[in-house]
Amino acid sequence: MAEEREEREVVETSEAQIAVHWQEEGVIMPSVKFIAQANMADETIYDRFSLDNFPNCFKEYADLLDWDEYWTEILDTSDAPCFKWFKGGKINASYNCVDRHLAKNKNKTAIHFVPELVEEKTEHITYQELYVRVNEMAALLQDFCGLKAGDRVTLHLPMTPDLPITMLACARLGVIHSQVFGGFSGKAAADRVVDSGSTVLITMDAYYRGGKLLDHKEKADTAVAEAAKEGQKIEKVLVWQRYPGKYSGDTPMVDGRDYFVNEELKKYYGVRIAPVPMPAEAPLFLMYTSGTTGKPKGCQHGTGGYLAYVAGTSKYVQDIHPEDVYWCMADIGWITGHSYIVYGPLAICASSVMYEGIPNYPDAGRCWRIAQDLDVNIFHTAPTAIRALRKIGPDEPAKYNYYFKHMTTVGEPIEPEVWKWYYEVVGKKKAAIVDTWWQTETGGFLCSTLPALKPMKPGSAGPGMPGIHPIIFDDEGNEVPAGTGKAGNICIQNPWPGMFQTIWGDRDRFVRQYFERYCKDPKSTDWRDWPYLTGDAAVMASDGYVRILGRIDDVINVSGHRLGTKEIESAALVVPEVAEAAVVPVRHEIKGKEPDLYVSLRPGFEATDELAKKISQAIVREIGAIARPRKVWIVPDMPKTRSGKIMRRVLGAISNKSDVGDVMTLANPEIVEHITKMVQD
Ligand code: PRX
Repeated sequence: MAEEREEREVVETSEAQIAVHWQEEGVIMPSVKFIAQANMADETIYDRFSLDNFPNCFKEYADLLDWDEYWTEILDTSDAPCFKWFKGGKINASYNCVDRHLAKNKNKTAIHFVPELVEEKTEHITYQELYVRVNEMAALLQDFCGLKAGDRVTLHLPMTPDLPITMLACARLGVIHSQVFGGFSGKAAADRVVDSGSTVLITMDAYYRGGKLLDHKEKADTAVAEAAKEGQKIEKVLVWQRYPGKYSGDTPMVDGRDYFVNEELKKYYGVRIAPVPMPAEAPLFLMYTSGTTGKPKGCQHGTGGYLAYVAGTSKYVQDIHPEDVYWCMADIGWITGHSYIVYGPLAICASSVMYEGIPNYPDAGRCWRIAQDLDVNIFHTAPTAIRALRKIGPDEPAKYNYYFKHMTTVGEPIEPEVWKWYYEVVGKKKAAIVDTWWQTETGGFLCSTLPALKPMKPGSAGPGMPGIHPIIFDDEGNEVPAGTGKAGNICIQNPWPGMFQTIWGDRDRFVRQYFERYCKDPKSTDWRDWPYLTGDAAVMASDGYVRILGRIDDVINVSGHRLGTKEIESAALVVPEVAEAAVVPVRHEIKGKEPDLYVSLRPGFEATDELAKKISQAIVREIGAIARPRKVWIVPDMPKTRSGKIMRRVLGAISNKSDVGDVMTLANPEIVEHITKMVQD
């Protein structure tokens, strides 16, 4: 408990510091032109979705979908807090994202795929083409791999259309997909394979990043070997080819285990697979995310509730119309990509852009050229990308002839200065901006403005979404009233359809981590007793707008994505020389935060640059490059309390060059000066 509290302090201190620098900003109205065309300009939506009308209000979202069997009960709370939405209903996500659009829109582009190499042509996949490819892939998964509804399959795919095609093929069969971010290591993929009990791994031979064709297949070999050590046998590795017919991987294909998808698919030419009507509450996918302990948790998302929620929010918050060209620059390996590149937009028959590579390849103008060429008018990205684009090419947007009617920011707090650049330079003062606050667990947006109904306020996400009722509690469970300027733990008072159903295979952890703290009665089946703890600190202004200050647990938000400090620490401890490891978040101009790693060594080992490098490499190997520490500091000893706990708060202050506070109560106060010299000189 003491340690938990200490870690909470670390992040609270640094996040709060960011927040203090920010003043409450004035509001900006969206243009009349935007309001006139918006999908949702009816103010009564907030009344319709008031707590009094909960949960029936969500029928409106469910009715955006086609049901094989209409549901009979909107919300079943009998197993609270594992809530079941649209009970009794049967539905197929693949049908809703593909088949149902064919009658009127088969010729419409579903996915515009932009390869990273400039000389490779953009591929425009129509809904008809998507239908064909999804069916053939579903046939392969069913007949060649023997997969059926309820089985789990791990995907470790980069950003090419093969990824959404594979997801939708799984969904067609009711197979639960678990996509692992392509940048994660083979070991990280293995951990997720083991936890989900997958016997099939779907990967790709190679993909482009920064102009280089990177080998990816090798990670699958590692994943198979590592999963086997944990007793999980991967029977088949399916390998998509970046260039069909040509193998671009560095490691040999293993006979009887590895298969080229493109080759196998030939056997299923023309096969059509009937979409399986799945119970509304059947799991659709798992998405692993970092939490307060070392082990990533598999957030389990359901079919009917999730799809209804992402379809509704894509329509009303993203404001996607049939004629729009919508580009979300996230990676589908994260929840943003699942909800707002694939399921939400395709459910409402949008044309969704997928870009393979990095925003600055080959130069700082790339994004704006893509926008100009495809006539993108809705753009969606994270503050980390906005900061980077602002740094490398502040004048680039003005050189291109594109027009955004709408822009989104997601994933981390955006500094008002950065917001203003986004609004003025990228959006050319014409776009309505939504700052969407949500999480892997929540499936879709929690707080955001509805763009035609509420003004924008730089740095604030906005009020709760329709049907989402945020509340801020202090540590004692008292409500912190809006407008007091006081921060607290932001919770959601009610369940909603997009919310995850549980942590895969660990209901206890689900209850403990997200509900226990403010649950009034653990036996209750009344949803009112189960406020959802988001783990973020926030302030609510008197107008109900929420400003998110950051995490209150030991999770670092790097480039808009969560990394568990314990995950990184345990990766460092894989190196035999390392005795102790402590990770702290450091402010970074572009990424928002970066991990700084402190280690002490076992007796008999010496601090060298090679060793620091080895530790850093171990982290990249175990987790992936996203977790690479800014710096590995090999220290003679960690600052510790008298009871022997590492004082991460002190290390955090040193890394951020802020006040370390009173350290005289430590067991070894002298070490603080030593480390400060080492880090700050
Ligand atoms: O701290 C919040 C921050 O990102 C966390 C969720 O991370 P993840 O599950 O990886 O999902 C990222 C994409 C939704 C949150 O707990 N966060 C997310 N969006 C915002 C944000 N912080 C401030 N403003 C946001 N718009």
